[in-house]
Amino acid sequence: MRKLIAGAMLAACVAGAALAENAVPREMAWAYPTGAKSTFGPPPGAGPFTMPGSKLRFSKAQVSDENTAVDWFPDSHPPAPPVVAHNSGKGPTPCAACHFYSGVGAPGAADLAGLPAEYIIAQVTAFKTGERRSANTGQPSTGEMIKVAVAVSNSALRQAAAYYASLPRKQVVRVVESATVPKTTPDQYGWLNPAPGREAIGNRVVELAADLPAMFIGNDRIAVTDYVPPGAIARGAAIVMSGGGTGQACAMCHGGSLQGTSMAPPLAGRSAAYLARALWDIRSGARHDAAAGMMQAPARGLTPSQIVDVTAYLASRKP
Ligand code: HEC
Ligand code: HEC
Repeated sequence: MRKLIAGAMLAACVAGAALAENAVPREMAWAYPTGAKSTFGPPPGAGPFTMPGSKLRFSKAQVSDENTAVDWFPDSHPPAPPVVAHNSGKGPTPCAACHFYSGVGAPGAADLAGLPAEYIIAQVTAFKTGERRSANTGQPSTGEMIKVAVAVSNSALRQAAAYYASLPRKQVVRVVESATVPKTTPDQYGWLNPAPGREAIGNRVVELAADLPAMFIGNDRIAVTDYVPPGAIARGAAIVMSGGGTGQACAMCHGGSLQGTSMAPPLAGRSAAYLARALWDIRSGARHDAAAGMMQAPARGLTPSQIVDVTAYLASRKP
């Protein structure tokens, strides 16, 4: 994720210029963490760096290399195509820098493991053409994905899509219902940084990685927790079943176990914070590629607090 820093200045200007069009109401602001600065930076210490469960050691220069995504667990995934692992200096930031080799994705990004290859290609193309934007105009994390989409060649994208589609789906978060949560501060790049103390959860999902510094140098086995309000999972189950305001049950298109169909991507076991943002992006029209048209009505049928409940339930399901 080294390249994130490079885009900071530019993204901040874009955000400032376009704020008037922002389509995120106060009740959904939690789904678009965007602080003034990022905690992401060179790892503390001189190295070499090690990781529990890995026999490998990497130097400070290696973990700081923005052109290569560190691979701590090379035996746990098939060989990755070049575009996923590194760039030769002028290609896009390697996919694994943000989505990891396992595809589970860093908080703020998205999990890609086991998504249909055609869906991955369609979404990256939509980021490139402008059919997929963040409802939070200028959201820096989405801005980084757009830069990749613009820079990646069609053949490299096909390779990346085939790679991520071949990986097993995983439960990417643990969902915990709780009236209070650790305090957090929003990072510029769409994740939450821990802060001292606790506070009331309110009506939101609080997604927190157990060890962000280890994630920043490529450890994709770090536990991520989605805290959700008490009762959210059961309320969400009922809404998913009924389909919410428009009465179109989610399973109709996303499959009986919400594990995805040829028509619509999987929802089960994915990050509630990501899914909530995706729902609002679709509902607001910021995400309006052709296939998202089918998803417009179901998304409009959900209120912000129903979105919290629905995504809490979806994240808790078996992928
Ligand atoms: C610098 C970080 C970064 C890199 C590198 C990156 N992505 Fe992303 N990607 C993101 C973020 C952040 C999002 C979520 C954007 C949002 O929610 O608006 C995302 C979302 C996606 C999605 C949407 C997933 C869904 O479920 O709809 C796809 C597909 C994707 N990326 C593919 C790729 C591919 C393929 C590559 C490599 C060619 C790549 N990304 C490289 C940050 C990155
Ligand atoms: C009529 C079919 C249909 C129904 C019903 C439907 N969806 Fe979807 N959904 C889709 C399609 C198609 C997409 C992919 C959109 C795209 O390609 O941009 C999608 C995408 C999504 C996404 C974004 C996933 C991602 O990876 O970014 C979420 C979240 C989602 N749906 C949630 C729901 C929920 C919750 C319900 C029930 C309230 C629901 N959907 C009902 C067809 C449907």
